[in-house]
Amino acid sequence: MVLQTQFADIKGNDLYIDGIKASDLAKQYGTPLYVMSEGHIRHQMNELKTKFMDKYEKALPLFASKSFSCLAIYKLANEYGIGIDCVSAGEISIALRAGFDPDKIYFHGNNKLPSEIEYALSHDVTHFVVDNFYEIENCEKIAGKLGKKVKATLRIVPGIKAGGHNYIMTGHKDTKFGFSSHYGIYLKAIQQILESDNIEYEGIHCHIGSQVFDLFAYVNAMLQFMKFVNEIYNTFGVVTSKINAGGGYGIAYTKQDEPLDFESITSEIMKVIYNEYDSHGWERPAVMIEPGRYVVGNAGITLYTVGCIKEIPDVRTYVSIDGGMSDNIRTPLYDAKYDGIVANKAGETKTKTVTVVGKICESADMITKDLPVTANIMPGDIFAVFSTGAYNYSMSSNYNQLPKPAVVFTYEGESRVVVRRQTFDDLILFDEE
Ligand SMILES: Cc1ncc(COP(=O)(O)O)c(C=O)c1O
Repeated sequence: MVLQTQFADIKGNDLYIDGIKASDLAKQYGTPLYVMSEGHIRHQMNELKTKFMDKYEKALPLFASKSFSCLAIYKLANEYGIGIDCVSAGEISIALRAGFDPDKIYFHGNNKLPSEIEYALSHDVTHFVVDNFYEIENCEKIAGKLGKKVKATLRIVPGIKAGGHNYIMTGHKDTKFGFSSHYGIYLKAIQQILESDNIEYEGIHCHIGSQVFDLFAYVNAMLQFMKFVNEIYNTFGVVTSKINAGGGYGIAYTKQDEPLDFESITSEIMKVIYNEYDSHGWERPAVMIEPGRYVVGNAGITLYTVGCIKEIPDVRTYVSIDGGMSDNIRTPLYDAKYDGIVANKAGETKTKTVTVVGKICESADMITKDLPVTANIMPGDIFAVFSTGAYNYSMSSNYNQLPKPAVVFTYEGESRVVVRRQTFDDLILFDEE
């Protein structure tokens, strides 16, 4: 079981989250329930602030809000003065609604719609992580029409393979994201931007993938990026003033995962960048990072109620819970592994191996396979799945017309709803009668 966090522990036979008995949270708010430790999120955001933003000149950590996106999280990020990575006009709209300074919002995405570009610019969101030539064309037209200037950071593919699963690798040659670093493609993009009246060249962006545990992958990517910086200087005589080093910092979902230390990653990245710039006597650039999972992943615990328990002799025991891939799609999508525990029997020895599945009508609907639990597990128990803070709620759906669970923040013995549970009426909110 992963209880590496400060906020969850076992007392007697019960799991406690931020000092509150998990089964009491389940009773009060119902299940399935996304419980997020506000204390843990604050701790992680404070790490971004004190160990990166305050430590280096012109450093700005961006929270990759796709990992967990709701009003409450943007408000928290805003409190710490960090920036935000948004991938759609929808995410931007919520960030703005939460009071975010448009100048701290970075607009990402491989297919920003013209309507989204217009939305962003008309709300003074001008920092774009530019992905492709079609986007350059659209930015040129739309920014011109609105009398705005896009500040461009170009996403370049470093040609490095890293990340926990093929679907979350983004730094290798065969990817839908960014400009290729081959055949002079990214240089052609920079040339177009330098010639543009409505787009300003600021820098380059690198994201190699997600759930990365390999420090050398980060170092290698930055070394590669320093080659690009030199190539850009040699071709155009321009010193790149902004480097976005991406996110992807791996977290522990199970005992097998060994996360890197945050400061080891950032200090290695900064070392590579500063060494290169200092060696040329160039002014040091602004540097950005954009972790998501690192901030919210371990903060989440999903509580479910156990239903049917099906023993198939000599095969396996299936434990069904009252949610599934509609609230956590990571296992079907990425073959993710999770730890969990029977929250109301947390002190009992685990002598039974089970596979925890959802109630969705798909065989792939699985939370975690071959997990040791108490042999005393039974219908009505509360089952807690750890480290569900990232890419669970934000990827949730209404498949099989399951209402989305509520999100509750816990902090120093108190709890509050930040997203209410959906009702059956919500399920037909947009249907015509
Ligand atoms: C461009 C970019 N930046 C940052 C992230 C955040 O990754 P993670 O949550 O693994 O830190 C992602 C994840 O998909 C991404 O695509």
